[in-house]
Amino acid sequence: MTYTFPKDFLWGGATAANQFEGAYNLDGKGLSVQDVTPKGGVPFEPGALNPLITDQPTPDNLKLEGIDFYHRYKEDIALFAEMGFKVFRMSIAWTRIFPNGDDAEPNEAGLAFYDKVFDELAKYGIEPLVTLSHYETPLNLAREYNGWTNRKLIGFYENYVRTVFTRYKDKVKYWLTFNEVNSVLHAPFMSGGIATPMEELSKQDLYQAVHHELVASASATKIGHEINPDFKIGCMVLAMPAYGMTANPLDQLAVHEFENQNYLFSDIHARGKYPNYIKRYFKENGIEIQFAPGDEEILKNTVDFISFSYYMSVATAHNPQDYKVGKGNILGGVENPYLEKSEWGWAIDPIGLRLILNDFYDRYQLPLFIVENGLGAKDVLVDGPDGPTVEDDYRIDYLQKHLIQVGEALQDGVELWGYTTWGPIDLVSASTAELSKRYGFIYVDRNDDGSGSLARYKKKSFVWYKSVIESNGEALYK
Ligand code: BG6
Repeated sequence: MTYTFPKDFLWGGATAANQFEGAYNLDGKGLSVQDVTPKGGVPFEPGALNPLITDQPTPDNLKLEGIDFYHRYKEDIALFAEMGFKVFRMSIAWTRIFPNGDDAEPNEAGLAFYDKVFDELAKYGIEPLVTLSHYETPLNLAREYNGWTNRKLIGFYENYVRTVFTRYKDKVKYWLTFNEVNSVLHAPFMSGGIATPMEELSKQDLYQAVHHELVASASATKIGHEINPDFKIGCMVLAMPAYGMTANPLDQLAVHEFENQNYLFSDIHARGKYPNYIKRYFKENGIEIQFAPGDEEILKNTVDFISFSYYMSVATAHNPQDYKVGKGNILGGVENPYLEKSEWGWAIDPIGLRLILNDFYDRYQLPLFIVENGLGAKDVLVDGPDGPTVEDDYRIDYLQKHLIQVGEALQDGVELWGYTTWGPIDLVSASTAELSKRYGFIYVDRNDDGSGSLARYKKKSFVWYKSVIESNGEALYK
């Protein structure tokens, strides 16, 4: 059976400035937490953070040069247009606009760069979808203020978002406040610019940082709607459905608790207040969130839509120590014996995407947007009739199966605005800082040791995705 996606469905791809722009120190850009990431990625293990709190970029860090979108944006956007993109998700690097985060004035050269990118997208009728903060907290805010643990970050962020909302009010309509806002619970440095090593970070300080981000996000929604009432402003969460290992009610309770940790973030963004279940958790863990006067009111500025990343599901149990630990995208779980895994051990679960779409929609009745999905894989460049290419049938297979489940969810009645695959052009991995973990339809000649010409080549999936967009989904069923 075939299915045609809704008429104005937004097909596209998603990126983040720090993983692909490069030019980390050009035209007045300041350092972000990503520029001090060591080769091998952001360490999540306790204690691994201290060496990062320097003011020096790490020399072998592939993110510093990325794939040089900064200089090649015209060529890259032309390729996205060739595939038929309707939308392109990107982030504005906060440090291009406010190099230290707490500067009084914005950096004009940074603002001018994004003007050029938005104008180039407009040439092809591609709608930008802009993440305001995608794991790119200015390093100065991490070093001097301990990131989002400090309430002052709300003001710095408001200043930044007001600047870009005003500047681009006629060029950008779709905005996301924080990338995977729930990930701060698991990767406080990368996600929240929090310099305190994880094992020393108290739950009190962590959840206070969460509160600051939630207030900042709601405040951004308010500011944005005042600047342009047509803006569509969404939250962005790392979605990860969980399955219980058995039908034992205790395992199902573990699922419920695991999922509530994530729902907390979308619940507050969609409902404008803290849910009751978290009040119990706070009480039992001695957490007392400091609300400043006005916070409660600000939180009532709810989002226009819910967006999320989806790569995998997890399994969980009340006795996880009895099972094999699963690998995962920031959040872990136990290994699900029913699912195959990617080369990086992430469980592949297309039906999980249908489930999470239905869950979010049932919970909020707000429009949804899938803003990341894809398969990180090792690609081999081969000679093709039109030059070098990659026969990436495994990537096509992953995306096809997921998109078919998206089609199922649409038929279930879910309202979904669009779908952007992660890394439509190869870029540097967020977690491992490798280039060999590739997601793209476009191959970039750059290797883990930093060598390579940066030339772009179309993979087999390029032609496939083009046909999916062209047929508005129908090609998925051929
Ligand atoms: C998401 C992030 O968690 O996963 C992206 O928002 C990231 O920044 C993506 O790149 C894939 O993860 P990784 O570690 O394979 O790059």
